[in-house]
Amino acid sequence: METRMIPIDEHTLQADAIDRVSDILKGGGIVALPTETVYGLAADALNAEAVLKIFAAKGRPADNPLIVHIAELSMLQRLAREIPPQACRLAERFWPGPLTMVLKKQGCIPDATSAGLETVGIRMPSHPVMRAVIRRSGLPLAAPSANRSGSPSTTSAQHCIDDLYGRVDAIVVSGESAVGVESTVLSLAGERPRLLRPGGVTREELEAVIGPIELDEAVLGRADPESRVSAPGMKYRHYAPKARVQLILGPAGRYQEYVNAHAGPDVAALCFRGEEQGLSVAATALGTPENPAQMAQGLFAALRDFDGKGVQTVYAHCPAPEGVGLAVYNRLIRAAAFDLVKL
Ligand code: TXA
Ligand code: MG
Repeated sequence: METRMIPIDEHTLQADAIDRVSDILKGGGIVALPTETVYGLAADALNAEAVLKIFAAKGRPADNPLIVHIAELSMLQRLAREIPPQACRLAERFWPGPLTMVLKKQGCIPDATSAGLETVGIRMPSHPVMRAVIRRSGLPLAAPSANRSGSPSTTSAQHCIDDLYGRVDAIVVSGESAVGVESTVLSLAGERPRLLRPGGVTREELEAVIGPIELDEAVLGRADPESRVSAPGMKYRHYAPKARVQLILGPAGRYQEYVNAHAGPDVAALCFRGEEQGLSVAATALGTPENPAQMAQGLFAALRDFDGKGVQTVYAHCPAPEGVGLAVYNRLIRAAAFDLVKL
């Protein structure tokens, strides 16, 4: 398939380029484009044939539902039913932004989009390019992360080119995603609010608005591949670079000792800033234990870079699983296939 490259500046939002993207989507095509969390691979959410192209391009299992992106609250009623008051309060506080709410779906959502579930995940992204495309096309856009299934998500146009060139109709070339990890997925379709995937909006921030939220077991632990987990995406090997990743929980000194004891030419470290000075292996330093948001922002690019350099083993220093650190922990523990060492 011929993949068109369409540069769009998020400040000027060139109208002719937005039109081209909108036309491809209205014609049933698929386009990789930026959002504030990660790049997404978008199609008309109400066009089953278009949505199936996303699954094919990514190599995504058909039982993993897609998030539907909207630009106006009026679109919400068309896509979801029995919208609870908590959803309205959360939308008011966190939309547009990195929050996805799982709600009961309206009949217009095809099974291809919701993977046969009676629910649909809906998010209003804040990225100007994504918003302009939704508005221009008038379409709700189904968009998973724009990576090959199983690989780390994409936070730059180059990552999308690496994974999807030749497999999609177009790639929008724009800046890097600011949040760096995918949206928080919260189910409001059951008896009690349930956090299915931690992300840019923290559990603590959500609870400040609607009170206690249950943590799905897949957030911290391993989901049973045989079970029907609440967020099907959490059960797959995920965010996995080619290198073996081991996650290390413990103070800086112990972490450095451990990494140095395992040093070798194909070994790399993913550490907090300042820790690299005490390490005898190549290190990528991101954020601090107090500011895991900076680790989130560069996380997927770092995992992809290790593969580019032929690294075989990565020792990743793990943030505490709270605030945005919970999202980083959740992605890293999957990249590490649950290989966690406590020092
Ligand atoms: O930030 C994001 O959410 C990005 C950008 C592009 O918006 N999208 C994204 O989509 O991360 P994806 O498909 O890579 O991850 C969606 C996650 C999966 O774990 C999926 O199982 C879950 O959300 N999900 C989607 N719809 C659901 C539903 N109806 N019920 C339960 N989980 C759902
Ligand atoms: Mg994904």
